[in-house]
Amino acid sequence: MFSRYKKTGGAKPAASTAGNAAPPEKAKPAVGTPAPSMRKPTAPAKPAPMDKEKKRKERLSEIKVQLHNRLLDSLNLSALETASEADLRAEINAIATEALEEMSIVLNREERNLLNQELYDEVTGLGPFEPLLRDDTVNDILVNGPHQIFVERNGKLELTDITFKDEKHLQRIIDKIVSAVGRRVDESNPYVDARLADGSRFNAMVPPIAVDGSLVSIRKFKKEKLSIDDLVKFGAFTEEMAAYLQAAVATRLNIIVSGGTGSGKTTTLNALSSFIDDSERILTIEDTAELQLQQTHVGRMESRPPNVEGKGAVTQRDCLRNALRMRPDRIIVGETRGEEVIDMLQAMNTGHDGSMTTIHANSARDAVSRLENMIAMAGIEMPIKAVRGQISSAVNLIVQASRLQDGSRRMVSITEITGMEGEVISMQEVFRFQRVGLTPDNKIIGHFTATGVRSHFSERFRLWGYDLPPEIFEPVEG
Ligand SMILES: Nc1ncnc2c1ncn2[C@@H]1O[C@H](COP(=O)(O)OP(=O)(O)OP(=O)(O)O)[C@@H](O)[C@H]1O
Ligand SMILES: [Mg+2]
Repeated sequence: MFSRYKKTGGAKPAASTAGNAAPPEKAKPAVGTPAPSMRKPTAPAKPAPMDKEKKRKERLSEIKVQLHNRLLDSLNLSALETASEADLRAEINAIATEALEEMSIVLNREERNLLNQELYDEVTGLGPFEPLLRDDTVNDILVNGPHQIFVERNGKLELTDITFKDEKHLQRIIDKIVSAVGRRVDESNPYVDARLADGSRFNAMVPPIAVDGSLVSIRKFKKEKLSIDDLVKFGAFTEEMAAYLQAAVATRLNIIVSGGTGSGKTTTLNALSSFIDDSERILTIEDTAELQLQQTHVGRMESRPPNVEGKGAVTQRDCLRNALRMRPDRIIVGETRGEEVIDMLQAMNTGHDGSMTTIHANSARDAVSRLENMIAMAGIEMPIKAVRGQISSAVNLIVQASRLQDGSRRMVSITEITGMEGEVISMQEVFRFQRVGLTPDNKIIGHFTATGVRSHFSERFRLWGYDLPPEIFEPVEG
């Protein structure tokens, strides 16, 4: 009946069913080990005050582990690749039915459906990760060892009740992910970046560097990126700020989006890019391709880490240098974090105005210090004044993204760089988020406001046809 996917040949002789491994090919209850030996004690020995739901889940997970081992043994894995989803589901269902009968286990319909789905995920996909990857409300998946999986929803971390069977199970799934992109992770190579088939960003670190079991972080890929309108609707910034940003992008100011981890930098960069005219040639450079530009003329580049022999790396800097020979109108670098800073600033200073990038920093001032540090780290020996001169003439605008303590993500500041005063880069904040307090359930109360300064770029905006009404620069009373 399921000959197409069942292993043929006698790699695992049917009678050798020692313990709970290697099930018989077409197991009849009479052959091999009697059914009871298949059943691990499903915790009846422990009369702990465990609630029913939890008990049931534990029992299900035990059964699942046994069934999964069984499936791996009896499925012809090479035939799986060509199998249709319906065939495979039918196959898994049949094998599971057979095994459950043999183990004399009766499950209700709901449990059965869940089990079938989990087995299917385990065989074809990424096991326990699958339901979380399917769940659109989840932004991040964070694993601290096999028994602790957190997810981020609406800016808040939550512990899930999903777990891996053990560290081996977790590592098997990690291997499945990284080998699919030609990478490897093991003791000698204990951390790795990869991308899942759906575009999600993946990072794993395995023991012994990860002390309590493998650490995994997944940033889910969103098919529908948040647009400017979405961000305004979510309260990330106001319509007035959006109008200002539109003028800034359209008139080709060089913009840095600054923010902490997961503060919404890439999302903001992506949304800002929607203001770029469709006729322009845009080149994007990222470590992991996340940006989704809507324009017609987009060239995307993704850097590459070295292979296991330490060869073949293509850095963001390599991409950037090459990009300069590819006649870009604008260059967008996903995140500037190292030596590519030099080329980025040079590009911004030499005709590729309107370029954008993000940087990991906590304020506009901090972003500038980070740039200075990166330049120093890249081994460029230049007097600090010259470094600052470079920065101040390259960068026009710093947009600060932040994830606030209530989980909301907001553009907390928009700051213009206006030049140099002596050795100091002068800047002025044009918009900011003014916090005023906290609700009883810890939601932040506050509002966006202009600071009242006149934009350094007003004249430029006007000349380019973006005559912003003066009201948008007027402070809002709290
Ligand atoms: N204003 C917002 N409102 C709601 N969700 C948001 C907002 N901005 C970003 N997000 C969501 O938050 C998550 C993190 O955003 P994003 O990837 O842009 O952050 P990041 O600062 O680039 O992170 P990293 O430092 O990891 O690169 C994404 O899932 C994104 O969809
Ligand atoms: Mg990012």
